[in-house]
Amino acid sequence: MTDRTIVLAFGTRPEATKMAPVYRAIETTPGLRPMILSTGQQRQMLDGALNVFGLTPDRDLNVMTDRQTLAGLTARIVPEAGKTLKEMGADMVLVHGDTTTSFCVALSAFYEGIPVGHVEAGLRSGSLREPFPEEANRRLTGVLTTLDFSPTSGSRANLLREGKDGGGIFVTGQTAVDAVREVAGRVPLRPEWQARVDAGQRLVTVTMHRRENQPMMREMAAALGRVAAAHPDTHFIYPVHLSPAVQEAVRPALEPVPNFELTEPLDYSDMAPLMAASVLLATDSGGLQEEGAALGVPVAVLRNVTERPEGLEAGVLTLAGNDPERLEAVLGGLLSDPATLDVMRRTRNPYGDGQASRRIAQAIAWHFGLVDRPADWS
Ligand code: UD1
Repeated sequence: MTDRTIVLAFGTRPEATKMAPVYRAIETTPGLRPMILSTGQQRQMLDGALNVFGLTPDRDLNVMTDRQTLAGLTARIVPEAGKTLKEMGADMVLVHGDTTTSFCVALSAFYEGIPVGHVEAGLRSGSLREPFPEEANRRLTGVLTTLDFSPTSGSRANLLREGKDGGGIFVTGQTAVDAVREVAGRVPLRPEWQARVDAGQRLVTVTMHRRENQPMMREMAAALGRVAAAHPDTHFIYPVHLSPAVQEAVRPALEPVPNFELTEPLDYSDMAPLMAASVLLATDSGGLQEEGAALGVPVAVLRNVTERPEGLEAGVLTLAGNDPERLEAVLGGLLSDPATLDVMRRTRNPYGDGQASRRIAQAIAWHFGLVDRPADWS
């Protein structure tokens, strides 16, 4: 029998990072052949991520435009993705998480009758506009899928509550854990940051880019600057997203702060060891919440709600919100309280054991009748 073609479709940097281990696991599964369809939603940031993992897309829709809108992206991806998947001979397409790429590729594949597998399925914040539009994207994608790979039993329960048939849902763990452990264990910290650690300085990694935070991002950045000014012994490193809206909000507030280093977006080979060497991550990203948990690094989440409640329950995450005064108080409090940071650091990682990608590949092989149902599946 010819191998089944499993196309991994993605377009943003975090999707590439979290799908790279899935690609490798499928590559080593007899009977399956992985291919990559890139939408190119994030041209430069995606390409940097692909380089780190040595992946090259088989097809690229190259849809990114300057100051692109969600509607424009949708209008460029939907007509092309399904058609391209057909040309690639896809027996199944895998999408990831909650981006415009994920939802639009899933919809377009569905129109073409191509089964969709959803990696990172079932996360829910419970608030349709937070994060925006990701919470809607992940719910809409979930309607279209044949297989759902949930990182935790909680995310599986969310899908069951929405009426999904449990037979296609697999609790696998988070593939971000697979990725961050592999890279952070293999690549050293940049020498200039290592020199700071050796000199006794603490590092804090900051990221902030969410659309729903953009209206108050200037004030949030100013608050972060005040926290840094109050902790001159701590070095803050913020790789600033290439989005013009983010750049324009953040740079004026933080460039003058001496212990705030603003960098270009970092490749994962720099980002993973940086996170691992930090005493705290302050972020509105989704993935960093899991990466912090996997590395045992406390995370202050710059949002009011999270779709990753397991980290809150375990104690490695705390919600700092997006109100500037509150986030200043929460971050300032944590940095002045090493004992609490220490307790957060020593909590259990609720996002899996680093075997998520292997389980996903096995579930796909089972779906196509290539293997028996392995014993360690829920
Ligand atoms: C998208 C995802 C978000 C994810 C984030 C990671 C959606 C709805 N959201 O949001 O979940 O956390 O990616 O980065 O899909 N740009 C560049 N060069 C790049 C990348 C982006 O110039 O390499 C510009 C784009 O032209 C656009 C802006 O940055 O103007 C925003 O990028 P976009 O991918 O549309 O949305 P994000 O807010 O990054």
